[in-house]
Amino acid sequence: MTDFPMRVFSGVQPTGNLHLGNYLGAITNFVALQDKFDCIYCVVDMHAVTVWQDPQALAHNTREVTAAFIAAGIDAKSHIVFNQSQVSGHAELAWIFNCVARMGWLNRMTQFKEKAGKHRENASVGLFTYPNLMAADILLYQATHVPVGEDQKQHLELSRDIAQKFNTDFATAIAEKGFGDQYFPLPEPLITGPAARVMSLRDGTNKMSKSDPSDLSRINLSDDGDTIAKKIRKAKTDPEPLPHEAAGFEGRPEAQNLVGIYAALAGKSGDEVLTEVGGQQFSQFKERLTELAVASLAPVGAEMTRLMDDPAFIDQVLADGAGRARELAAPILHGAKDIIGFIQS
Ligand code: TYM
Repeated sequence: MTDFPMRVFSGVQPTGNLHLGNYLGAITNFVALQDKFDCIYCVVDMHAVTVWQDPQALAHNTREVTAAFIAAGIDAKSHIVFNQSQVSGHAELAWIFNCVARMGWLNRMTQFKEKAGKHRENASVGLFTYPNLMAADILLYQATHVPVGEDQKQHLELSRDIAQKFNTDFATAIAEKGFGDQYFPLPEPLITGPAARVMSLRDGTNKMSKSDPSDLSRINLSDDGDTIAKKIRKAKTDPEPLPHEAAGFEGRPEAQNLVGIYAALAGKSGDEVLTEVGGQQFSQFKERLTELAVASLAPVGAEMTRLMDDPAFIDQVLADGAGRARELAAPILHGAKDIIGFIQS
C-alpha cells in the first residue's frame, strides 16, 4: 500500500449565516487538528454557486468564512486558508472525476435529493455533480483526513469510491509511472465530538441549517450576546427534567441537542455533562448554557467583525493561501493527467 503523508483538508461554503452547527461540527475540529497535521481549509465558493448567489453577497460571505476561520483560531500562516476558485486545479480534477464517477452513484446522494426537492429538472447540473468536485477538493492535495459534520458522511464515502475507482481503472499506468499501487489515498472522514449533528433549536428532529427560514432555529456566529440568550431562552424543550443518563434521551431530541451543544462548548462528553446537570429543570440548564455559549461565541463574533473591517487583509490571506495551495496541487494534478494519458508540456 502506498504510504501517503497525513494531510487534512476540509471546506465550508460561503452561503451566509454561518451557525453553531458549522462551528461545533466542523470549525472547532479544524482548529484542534492543527497541532497534529498539515491542514488545508478552503472556502468553497465554487460549491456555493451550484445554487444562484448574489455576486456581492458571495464575495462578502467568502471573506466572512475566512474571518470565522481566523477568529476561531486557525493559523493561516502555518496552515493553508484559501478560496477554491483561485486554484484552477479543483475544476480540472473535478472534470476527470466527472468521467470516473457513475451516474448511479450520484443518483443515490441524499443531499442532492433534499436540495433539488421536487424541482429536480430545474436544478443546476453543478448541484448534481457537486460530490465529484468535493472529491477533487480533497484528492487534489492527496489529503488523508477530512473533518466534517455528520451530514457530509455520504459525500465522503463517494470520495473514497472515486479514489478507489481511479486507482483501479488506471492501475497499470499508475504502476508503470512509478506511483506504486495507489495514486489517490482513500480519505478518512473525521466525524467527532458530541456536536457532529447539531439540530434546530425549534425542532430537534431537523438539522440546524443556514437555509431554515426561522432565524430562531439557529445561533449564528455573528449573533451578539443578547441574541444568543434570546434564542436559547426560546429554544424548544419538553416538560421533564434532564435525564441522568443518555438512555433517557429516548424520544427527547431537543434535550439531547441542548446537552450535546453544552458538551461541545465545554469540551466534555455528553455523559460527563449529564452527571453534572441530570435532574435539573430546563430553566436552570438554559441559564448555564447561555452563559457558556455567550462566553465562547461572543469573542469569536467580535473578532470576525474586527477582521471584516479590513477586507484587504483577508484578501491577502486568501491570495497567500491560494499561492501555496497551487504549488502543492500542481505536481499531483500533473501526475493524474499523466496517468490518464494527457500529453502535457
Ligand atoms: P457546509 O458548508 O454545508 O458545512 C460546513 C461544515 O459544517 C458542517 N455542518 C454541521 N455540523 C454539525 N451540525 C450541523 N447542523 C451542521 N451543519 C453543517 C458540515 O458537515 C461541514 O463539515 N460539501 C461541504 C463543503 C465541502 C467540503 C469539501 C467539505 C466542499 N468540499 C471537501 C470537506 C471536504 C458543505 O456543503 O459543507
